[in-house]
Amino acid sequence: AGVKGTASERTFIAVKPDGVQRGLVGKVISRFEERGYKLVGLKAIVPSKQLAEQHYADLSARPFFKGLVEYMTNGKAPVVCMVWEGKDVVRQGRAMIGATNPLESAPGTIRGQYCVSVGRNIIHGSDSFESAEKEINLWFGKAGELIDWEPATWGWIM
Ligand code: TYD
Repeated sequence: AGVKGTASERTFIAVKPDGVQRGLVGKVISRFEERGYKLVGLKAIVPSKQLAEQHYADLSARPFFKGLVEYMTNGKAPVVCMVWEGKDVVRQGRAMIGATNPLESAPGTIRGQYCVSVGRNIIHGSDSFESAEKEINLWFGKAGELIDWEPATWGWIM
C-alpha cells in the first residue's frame, strides 16, 4: 500500500453493490479526485463467496456476517474496486466515508450524505495502513492491475 505517511500511501476503496445500483460510483470517484487523490486501480467484479469472506474475515463471528457476504456476492450489481493514492489517504479516506453507524456519520461525509442503514452503506474503505495492504493484495492480486503514473497537478497538491 505504498509507503505510510508519504504521497505514495495507498488505500482500498470499494463501492458496494447498493452504491452501484444507486448510481453513486461517479460521486465517489469525484470526491476522491477533487480532494487531490490519484486513482491507480479500478475494476468492477462480482466477488466470489471466498473473496468476500476473506475480505470480512475479522467479522466472521458476527450475526450479520452471512447476510453481508450474500449482499456483496449475489451479483445484483458488481463491486467497483479502487485503489487511491496520496498523502494520508487511508485516514482521509475513512474521514471522507464517515462513521459505520449511520446515526454517527456526519452530514457531508459519503455515508452521511447517501446512507441511512448500516447494512446498506454503499462504500468500503480500509481502516488502517495494514488493512489497506491486505485488501489491495486480496482484490488486486494480479501484477499490472495497478498503474504508477504522475498527475500533472501532483506537485501542486502533495
Ligand atoms: P465494519 O468493518 O465494522 O465497518 P466499516 O465498513 O465502516 O469498516 O463492518 C463492515 C460492514 O459490515 C459494514 O460496512 C456494514 C456491515 N455491518 C452490518 O451490516 N451491521 C453491523 O452492525 C455492522 C457493525 C456492520
